[in-house]
Amino acid sequence: MRIAGIPYRSVWVDPADGWSVRIFDQTRLPWAVEILRLTDEEQVVHAIRSMQVRGAPLIGAVAAYGLALALRRDPASLEAAAEMLGRTRPTAVNLRWALERMLARLRNTPLPERAAAAYAEAALICDEDVAMNEAIGRHGLPLIEEAAARKGGGRVNILTHCNAGWIATVDWGTALSPIYRAHDAGIPVHVWVDETRPRNQGAALTAWELGAHGVPHTVVADNAGGHLMQRGEVDLVIVGTDRVTRRGDVANKIGTYLKALAAKDNGVPFWVALPSPTLDTRIADGVAEIPIEERGASEVTEATGLLPDGTVATVRVAAAGSPAANPAFDVTPARLVTGLITERGRCEASEAGLSSLFPERFA
Ligand code: MRU
Repeated sequence: MRIAGIPYRSVWVDPADGWSVRIFDQTRLPWAVEILRLTDEEQVVHAIRSMQVRGAPLIGAVAAYGLALALRRDPASLEAAAEMLGRTRPTAVNLRWALERMLARLRNTPLPERAAAAYAEAALICDEDVAMNEAIGRHGLPLIEEAAARKGGGRVNILTHCNAGWIATVDWGTALSPIYRAHDAGIPVHVWVDETRPRNQGAALTAWELGAHGVPHTVVADNAGGHLMQRGEVDLVIVGTDRVTRRGDVANKIGTYLKALAAKDNGVPFWVALPSPTLDTRIADGVAEIPIEERGASEVTEATGLLPDGTVATVRVAAAGSPAANPAFDVTPARLVTGLITERGRCEASEAGLSSLFPERFA
């Protein structure tokens, strides 16, 4: 996608040296567009943990490059580096998927060839991610076209939670991919952007992306969704996901489950967009089996924003001394999901639906 007219991906190898890895520092967005240069696997671990990079597909892609950086220094460090990178964040299965793919490709590669093979495999992961997300856009577009037709060409209001846009993937995004397509096709779309406390990925990142692309949108407090749905102001919900189980349970940013409940109560279609690396066929019961990341309490007790003088500051918003809990994801059971949008088409959130599109994963 473009920033000020210049096309970018969310991760790339620096063309100046051909080996270091470039990312946007997402902890600085939307106040500053800063590009970071990562030169070793420790920096990659820090970038993922501190959420300089985030979003399930992007975490996997950057971790793959983390392995390439490790092997460049020490070709024998494959297993240790994969283990270290794999411990950074627990919920998004794309991280494990990318590292397992890299290990399978590199384990039997002679040491002198490992680094080059790792860079090539990481580049392939990135290119495939872009292609999958582009396809998700194509398969999600009819949902928005149908909503526009139902409204006689009137504005289609789509609610999204967290950030599942291009900055959460290598390009295009998952939930936002059909929205970008619809906007580019001239369909009048408007996005309700949940602010997504505690880290505000909606207010900071989704709003920034949509604004840069010219997509009409409005940031709302996380608690506004149910009210908007009751008033008929949401035509459909589209969210991304960090892990989908074989029966279609969906882990996503904390608060997603409440939106799904409100959508069910109000007859609003609730769609989840995922590239196939986000599918975890090893588990069925999302509530029981998906590990939920618990992040630091300060993300809840504090908030970061821009002061009138242009400096970025973090302030305390909770009463002094009050403890806080910070579960970063929740699980929406398949029964609340209208359907899944994948790179191979749309399906029911169920084992039957998923296996009809990805039979090789259920063999
Ligand atoms: O904690 P984050 O910001 O990494 O969480 C991201 C999300 O929950 C996204 O919705 C999900 O990864 C899908 S990204 C295409």
